Amino acid sequence: MSKMRFAILGCGMIASYHADAINDIENAILVGAFDLNKESLEKFCNKYSVKAFSSLNEMLESENVDTVCICLPSGLHCENAVLCAEHKKHIVIEKPIALDNEQCDRIIKSADENGVMATVISQLRYSGSVNAVKEAVDDGKFGKIVLCDISMKYYRSAEYYSSSNWKGTFKMDGGGALMNQGIHGIDLLQHIMGPVVSVQAYAKTLLHNIEAEDTLVAALEYKNGAVGTVQATTSVYPGFQRKISVCGTEGSVVLSENIIEKSEFKNKNPFENIDFGTTDMKTGSRPDAMRYELHRDQIADFIKCVNNNTVPALSAREGKKAVEIICAIYESARTGKKIFI
Ligand SMILES: NC(=O)c1ccc[n+]([C@@H]2O[C@H](COP(=O)([O-])OP(=O)(O)OC[C@H]3O[C@@H](n4cnc5c(N)ncnc54)[C@H](O)[C@@H]3O)[C@@H](O)[C@H]2O)c1
Repeated sequence: MSKMRFAILGCGMIASYHADAINDIENAILVGAFDLNKESLEKFCNKYSVKAFSSLNEMLESENVDTVCICLPSGLHCENAVLCAEHKKHIVIEKPIALDNEQCDRIIKSADENGVMATVISQLRYSGSVNAVKEAVDDGKFGKIVLCDISMKYYRSAEYYSSSNWKGTFKMDGGGALMNQGIHGIDLLQHIMGPVVSVQAYAKTLLHNIEAEDTLVAALEYKNGAVGTVQATTSVYPGFQRKISVCGTEGSVVLSENIIEKSEFKNKNPFENIDFGTTDMKTGSRPDAMRYELHRDQIADFIKCVNNNTVPALSAREGKKAVEIICAIYESARTGKKIFI
């Protein structure tokens, strides 16, 4: 089978994860990239020995490109995803897929109308322990689930925000600690627990000199009857690992990053004798501390879906779910009201 030919749009921090991922997939090849910033473009293309396209149009018109990875500031995802779809390119879109429901719908519609496939990066979905917890939830192993909480107590330096012209802005980041850093966790919550039906929230900017929130708490009500809390901040030193706890009448589990840290069940423990390894992930305090392998697994799965014409687990429709929850949380924080989804 021929290799899927990728190009990368936006050669910043996350682009190298896509390039390393593509280079580690047998039936994928990175052919080129484009960035408005000439210096970033050249540095990236030299590092990966790929073509530096002279314009976005050249890249989109190229018959050598099957799929574009959109690694742009989040506020540019929608218009560029639509452009890629109109040029009949499949799309791998970094999280968040877009900044609001309307933008998500435009991407979904455009991919459907142009017959291309889209996936939204949520690489933690490709970790074994997360899926083991989801399976145990679906199998009723927790009994009645009472609580599902997430804590994302992260640290980002002042330079993290001051060195970027888009992070922490509403227009280009869509929000702060929750939309940028916290969306991974929100996606895992809704993946594990199913739909969120209502939210109530507080958002504050307590430390950083940014427009959006750097600290947020929310109470959630899930469709399955459970309730839970979300804590998200980029303001606390030293920053901790993300914790998700799922607590039911028959047993409970705590995930630390993507590893099961603790689990106890009245009867048989569904996670007994499964080695999920350990995690030394420091993404709570360092955004570049992650590894590329989960991106690789998601992109490899996407290639399989395109080849088999099956819908990817993280389709654009699926990616919209976390954005929808976050937008409702923001609306609640803004209005002081409980918001139904
Ligand atoms: N999956 C993850 O864990 C993860 C981690 C970090 C970032 N991200 C996401 O990746 C995306 C990019 O984040 P980043 O940290 O790499 O940002 P960045 O600021 O490091 O890089 C963005 C790049 O886009 C380029 N750019 C801006 N406007 C452009 C345009 N109109 N045309 C072409 N190039 C343009 C910039 O010059 C820059 O090189 C964001 O959506 C972010 O949320 C995901």
